[in-house]
Amino acid sequence: MSKTLLHALAGESVWPPPVWLMRQAGRYLPEYRAIRATVPDFISLCTTPALAAEVTLQPIRRYGFDAAILFSDILILPWALGQGLTFQQGEGPVLPPIRDEAGFRALNASRLSEKTAPVMETVRQVRAGLTREGFDSTALIGFAGAPFTVACYMIEGMGSRDFAATRTLAYQNPSLFNSIIDLLTETTVTYLSAQIDAGAETVMLFDSWAGVLPPEQFRRYVIEPTKRIAAALHGKVPVIGFPRMAGLSIEAYALETGVNAVGLDTSMDVTCAVPLLPVTVAAQGNLDPLALVAGGDVMAAETQAVLEAMRGRPFIFNLGHGIVPQTPPEHVSALIEMVRAS
Ligand code: CP3
Repeated sequence: MSKTLLHALAGESVWPPPVWLMRQAGRYLPEYRAIRATVPDFISLCTTPALAAEVTLQPIRRYGFDAAILFSDILILPWALGQGLTFQQGEGPVLPPIRDEAGFRALNASRLSEKTAPVMETVRQVRAGLTREGFDSTALIGFAGAPFTVACYMIEGMGSRDFAATRTLAYQNPSLFNSIIDLLTETTVTYLSAQIDAGAETVMLFDSWAGVLPPEQFRRYVIEPTKRIAAALHGKVPVIGFPRMAGLSIEAYALETGVNAVGLDTSMDVTCAVPLLPVTVAAQGNLDPLALVAGGDVMAAETQAVLEAMRGRPFIFNLGHGIVPQTPPEHVSALIEMVRAS
């Protein structure tokens, strides 16, 4: 059976559209929580191929999604570059912040392939598992954080509402900031190329904090690095970009980066966004994850509105951001049925 996700990424209008959900493997699933309880920390889960492959496959078995997404995290790249990383229970990631040249020089790309070897083994095991379990129409998505969003965590040292320290550094020490972005751009190409060689059929760049930048810096730190990464991967596999909260800059992003699909976040009005995207670029999104928590008529109405705006163009149904832990798993089944009946 053919993989509808890859058709949509090639610019075809497939209907009903392929569907998968950001964070489809995660804490809302009891079978994920069971595996998570067997490991001491989240990084161990990401770097134990048998377990990471198992949790990648869990939502596919339950829902038959059209795509599986590698189970890992965008912060595995800075971790592999030697920056310390821990995930505090309920508080998110913590890293020793990089604020000066000495912090930057302490990063070391020479062990990247050795440290990310478990991720590549996970990719191979997922591909084998999809075949073994008969999911012939499910495509495998590899991913990385986009350079700007990864730099946000490396410089800030934790999550933030506005990444003020990161954005101040970009103004006050552009040379250091550019060095960090350049290193991330180059190592992201290496990291994603290895995922592709291991069996990823498309790759997604998560730029979750793109929307905190003013337009000029959006061009420099979001569009330019994405363009370089897409160009380097060009001809290997299609690329999905997700510049969250990009607002009106979504148009320049879709036109200039060379990505094959653009992820639309929850705040994006689909009827306004569609005319801004070239017909050859697929749209992906953008049901509110909280409408999925609510379920019922609210979810149905929001879902139909997205579907109607996208009918007739290349489209991949998804949420506008990741599934939240309080999502009832049966609401996901209802959503998939609705999309497949459209
Ligand atoms: O199913 C999938 O989508 C694949 C796996 C995946 C995870 N993180 C697993 C994860 C993917 C694609 C990501 C991307 C990611 N990670 C992003 C970009 C997307 C977005 O949400 O904006 C970001 C910003 C991160 C960084 C990160 N990882 C944070 C801020 C946190 C803590 C918040 C939280 O939800 O706990 C994580 C941890 C994380 N990554 C979890 C999962 C399943 C939860 C950790 C756990 O189970 O203990």
